[in-house]
Amino acid sequence: MAEALRVGIAGLGTVGASVARVLRDKAAELTRQCGRDIIVSAVSARDRKRDRGTDLSSANWFDDPVKMAQTAEIDVFVELIGGDEGPARASVKAALEAGRHVVTANKALLAKHGVALAEIAEKKGVLLNYEAAVAGGIPVIKTMREAMAGNSVSRVFGILNGTCNYILTRMEAEGVSFDVVLKDAQRLGYAEADPTFDIEGHDTAHKLSILTSLAFGTRIAANDIYMEGISNITQADIRAAGDLGYRIKLLGVAQRTESGIEQRVHPTMVPTASVIAQVHGVTNAVAIETDILGELLLSGPGAGGNATASAVIGDVADIAKSRPGFQHGPVFGLPAKELKPYKKAQMRSHAGGYFIRLTVHDRIGVFAAIAKRMADNDISLESIVQHAVSGEAAAQKTVILVTHETTEAAVRKAVDGITKDGHLTDKPQVIRIERAG
Ligand SMILES: NC(=O)c1ccc[n+]([C@@H]2O[C@H](COP(=O)([O-])OP(=O)(O)OC[C@H]3O[C@@H](n4cnc5c(N)ncnc54)[C@H](OP(=O)(O)O)[C@@H]3O)[C@@H](O)[C@H]2O)c1
Repeated sequence: MAEALRVGIAGLGTVGASVARVLRDKAAELTRQCGRDIIVSAVSARDRKRDRGTDLSSANWFDDPVKMAQTAEIDVFVELIGGDEGPARASVKAALEAGRHVVTANKALLAKHGVALAEIAEKKGVLLNYEAAVAGGIPVIKTMREAMAGNSVSRVFGILNGTCNYILTRMEAEGVSFDVVLKDAQRLGYAEADPTFDIEGHDTAHKLSILTSLAFGTRIAANDIYMEGISNITQADIRAAGDLGYRIKLLGVAQRTESGIEQRVHPTMVPTASVIAQVHGVTNAVAIETDILGELLLSGPGAGGNATASAVIGDVADIAKSRPGFQHGPVFGLPAKELKPYKKAQMRSHAGGYFIRLTVHDRIGVFAAIAKRMADNDISLESIVQHAVSGEAAAQKTVILVTHETTEAAVRKAVDGITKDGHLTDKPQVIRIERAG
């Protein structure tokens, strides 16, 4: 049998401790599958004394993950610390420069430094594997990088943040407000104490930026993503969406257009009958549209110790199976130096259908004025409905418009016009409608 593959794990938190435990519990299966043993020979975390739920006494402890990355005691450096700078970046860079293979689940690091790290990995002839960085346990990186060779991708989109999908699912099922569900999600551990990163779309944007690079062969451009979170989604939106045959999801979408590539993260209305609309709770899903394959949808657990560990271990097993001296495929599907600069499509030229919810004074002429602003901007309407608002706000009405395909610029101009007309009693709500099979 070939020599054992020696793994060093930096970070022994939710994911790292699960990886260490599964590597131990499944050692015999992994040896059979890989043709060699995989052993945890080194570990690093901050607190040496903390119980990690598995016996790590045979692994050498390193206080400094950079030192561990450089030691000749390991063949693979598994980075599960997190963060786009600091010890995560320093140790991954050090490992690659020392000629060690790297496995990471760190989307923040890859979104910011992925291309530079890929250049080092490719120069050194080592692997930089990151299946767990996007959609946790779903094997979307392998699917896009390996299984879809020859396909041209036109759009990739998905539910990439379990916290947001959990909140939206419960808001719809229970008819309660965003704030109430968020508090409960925090109590249950589905949302962080500071949830901004998840609910405002940053986490989705990091993952989307990696998928965009794989889909379109472009350099990662995580700072060039249009982003809106879910904190302003109300029960009124969810109910109106349901009445119209839609469900609201926070999607990350990357799409090739005539003027460039759109990268956007925002609440989206998808048809209730579409497959992606059936993805509930913390589950993630990624849809990929290509010329040869058509549309593929992968769904599954996007986070959690075990699910994420499964993807990390798959990456380690690939390294265990790789033959010494064999030329590895490029990190982002194309050699890092050949990735094209990202050409951004302007959000104002985004084309699609729109849902617009307006709360207006209950006055004669308002409805006609709204319809005129739409017509003036060449927006054709699929439907326009008005409802009385009951209770204290009886002098108000809700007007809900659904447009046929139009542009973001036209919708913004029309809504600005309606706002200037002085008919609104509340902020207008605009939600994009996404085509989904
Ligand atoms: N959790 C998930 O479901 C999930 C899913 C997909 C991807 N990820 C990614 O996986 C990575 C790890 O996430 P996690 O949830 O496992 O994080 P976590 O529970 O916060 O664990 C972080 C670990 O890093 C260690 N650490 C922090 N600073 C260190 C330093 N300077 N030197 C050595 N170790 C250090 C911590 O040590 P101590 O334990 O001693 O404090 C801890 O063990 C992140 O990049 C995250 O984005 C997580």
